Amino acid sequence: MVSVMYRNRRGRITGLGSAVPEHIMTNHDLEKMVDTTDEWIQSRTGIKERRICEKYESMSDLAVAAGRRALEMAGLGPKDVDLLLLGTVTPDHRLPSTACIVQKKLGLVNAAALDIVAACAGFLHGLSIANSFIRIGQYKRVMVIGAEKLSSCTDFTDRNTCVLFGDGAGAAVVEASEGDRGILSTFLKSDGRLSELLWIPHGGSIAPPQSFHNGDGDFFITMSGSEVFRHAVRQMSDASLKALDMAGLKSEDVTVMVPHQANIRIMESAARRIGIPIERVFMNIDKYGNTSAASVPIALDEVVRSGRIKEGDILLMAAFGGGLTWASATVKW
Ligand code: ACO
Repeated sequence: MVSVMYRNRRGRITGLGSAVPEHIMTNHDLEKMVDTTDEWIQSRTGIKERRICEKYESMSDLAVAAGRRALEMAGLGPKDVDLLLLGTVTPDHRLPSTACIVQKKLGLVNAAALDIVAACAGFLHGLSIANSFIRIGQYKRVMVIGAEKLSSCTDFTDRNTCVLFGDGAGAAVVEASEGDRGILSTFLKSDGRLSELLWIPHGGSIAPPQSFHNGDGDFFITMSGSEVFRHAVRQMSDASLKALDMAGLKSEDVTVMVPHQANIRIMESAARRIGIPIERVFMNIDKYGNTSAASVPIALDEVVRSGRIKEGDILLMAAFGGGLTWASATVKW
């Protein structure tokens, strides 16, 4: 229950940052690794290239670089952050949470830190949780990061998946704010009955790596592409309409939609169902591929830094991923 005292309080994004590895893997590079073509990948997904970590680069390194840029934009120091939420499915270690590692590297000494496992919807889950904590008055300055090193669980001999994914990180600083600017609505949903459409079968506690011999375990992302596609279009568009409705908005009020960058055809179909013209949908999938939890905050950082958004504009974000999980949010900038 929101206290009367905090009725007008909401989270407002005051800083954004992103970071991707230097190394670019193009579709032509993949043509040499699996039976695929640049033409197939571009026409089916919209992806031209993706960024891939070197062996020495960790997911937390990317998260830290993105977080530092977000702090700079917000004009805050590390000690100002009182909660860190990190959406990821590719943690540095199984223990501790990578949020604790990022906390250490960034010097967020006054923060609580935790990981959120909601795949591609991880950042929007974090944004929603940040907003809720801010609204009840428990935290004032929350850093929300989405970061992935998907190359660590991508099978580069499987053409069905290896052409899709990339590495990267995006971060937002969310601060308590009074007034009508900020996060207007968020919506979260999951359906665990569909978990095996998109999962990593082995490597968790039910089938730990040491229980396999001769490389017979499956530690890579496995996906039923066309089924995931169908759910993604329906759930991202329904979730978007829900978030708009919760905020008392209509699709024509949206200045820019920032969807999860999974596949250009998913974004186009979802936008059509919501009733948003494609020119108002931000896309950078051609450069990065699907970076899971990092995809929405990287896109958000790019759209804001491009100058396309001005004060008072309405942003709609939506994401969908393994779990299955999906989420949406509206923001008045
Ligand atoms: N190059 C060439 N051919 C390929 C490739 C490739 N890289 N990959 C698959 N094919 C072939 C298939 O083998 C199949 O051949 P067949 O007909 O001989 O069996 C054919 O292309 C068509 O395959 P489809 O799966 O029907 O292709 P589709 O048009 O559905 O595109 C894709 C596949 C791109 C994977 C699409 O289904 C998709 O984007 N799905 C959703 C992905 C997604 O959103 N994931 C969620 C987030 S990820 C996360 O949470 C971490």
